[in-house]
Amino acid sequence: MLTVKSLHIIFMVTWYAGLFYLPRLFVYHAMCAPDDRVGIERFKTMERKLYYGIMTPGMVLTVVFGLWLWLGYGITGGWMHAKFALVLVLLAYHVYLGKLLAAFRDDRNAHGHVFYRWINEIPALPILVAVVFLVVMKPF
Ligand code: HEM
Repeated sequence: MLTVKSLHIIFMVTWYAGLFYLPRLFVYHAMCAPDDRVGIERFKTMERKLYYGIMTPGMVLTVVFGLWLWLGYGITGGWMHAKFALVLVLLAYHVYLGKLLAAFRDDRNAHGHVFYRWINEIPALPILVAVVFLVVMKPF
């Protein structure tokens, strides 16, 4: 069980590294001058590799090992249901970042850098704090 939990946490950290870094790349990408083709193409490559090469595998493996702990080892409680609800919000946010990635890929980004500075923190940070509190303290 310890190995499954360790892998769950390792992939959660991998996923979270991307959840915080991808919007940061979007901030700089949105600040690029329209004629800076070299810079724009570099950001597209970095965003694509981060989302498909690191974040999405991290997300899938976090969920797989999490479900293994929950359903396989039967570790559950009210806290797990609340945690799962928050994780569903996080999964929707992950998909939304994929849509923003596609908009940048097709040069049809509609937001300025200030918007991406806000989504750099919300909702990932409050959910991280709430989920870790729930799973460590198990308040209900
Ligand atoms: C569908 C997704 C997920 C499921 C089903 C799930 C389920 C679980 C379960 C059953 C445990 C074991 C708790 C224990 O042994 O006391 C656990 C541990 C943990 N989970 Fe998740 N989890 C999921 C996603 C996440 C996410 C997204 C995060 C971070 C934001 C996270 C953070 C943690 C942490 C930090 C632990 C270790 C807690 C400890 O050692 O006491 N999990 N998870």
